[in-house]
Amino acid sequence: MELQEVLRTTAAVREFTDDPLPDEVLAEILEVARFAPSGGNRQGARIVVVRDRETRERLVEITGPGARRYAAQGAVREGPWNPVVPTTLTAEQIAATPVPPHLVEPIRTAAAVLVVCVDLSAVAATDQLLDRVGIVAGASVYPLAWNILLAARERGYGGTFTTMAIAQEPALKELLGIPDPYAVACVIPLGRPVKGVTRLKRRPVSELATLERFDGPPLGDADTEE
Ligand SMILES: Cc1cc2nc3c(=O)[nH]c(=O)nc-3n(C[C@H](O)[C@H](O)[C@H](O)COP(=O)(O)O)c2cc1C
Repeated sequence: MELQEVLRTTAAVREFTDDPLPDEVLAEILEVARFAPSGGNRQGARIVVVRDRETRERLVEITGPGARRYAAQGAVREGPWNPVVPTTLTAEQIAATPVPPHLVEPIRTAAAVLVVCVDLSAVAATDQLLDRVGIVAGASVYPLAWNILLAARERGYGGTFTTMAIAQEPALKELLGIPDPYAVACVIPLGRPVKGVTRLKRRPVSELATLERFDGPPLGDADTEE
């Protein structure tokens, strides 16, 4: 598959066939994904491949609270889990919200679930002294996570970045024996997609990039974009 097509069609896949994802294929996917960059090339990422049914059920439980809050906030049109605009909901309102199946079922139905971790003692976080939520540390692990999804797509597999379980990171780390100072970056259910390619909805380049300044003229021609 051409790189162009991979980049344009790597969607969030949450429904999987019963097809297996053998360790050999997973190793091939990781063999190319591993060329992702990390700050200072410290390569602090680690991946735990989960197939065990009982472990997955615990993962589903651990995912529940984060997913409840996501759904509860979405239902009242808040930006779920947004760190800048805090929620107006009470803990009781969140606890009373059902867990949306699409946020947990992929953990049960995927051929494998990859838990992507990063050694916090190996990341460079140049924004750590700023008075805002940290973003740079994640850049030492998310390129690898995205490479995994791209490489999987090229081989006819798919998956989704999921992050709800990280709200319960201590339980997640205990479940999988992840030591300090590792953090969990994402949980990726991976398998053979049920559905074919769908057209991805993304903002056009003219809304994404400007020239010279943030308020500069747009890059790209809105009239010619798909
Ligand atoms: C940082 C990040 C966190 C995400 N967390 C979740 C998640 O917890 N559960 C989930 O089902 N999808 C999650 N997603 C997937 C997004 O919902 C998905 O990428 C987005 O809606 C675009 O979907 P599409 O590629 O099918 O258009 C996450 C994506 C990113 C990049």
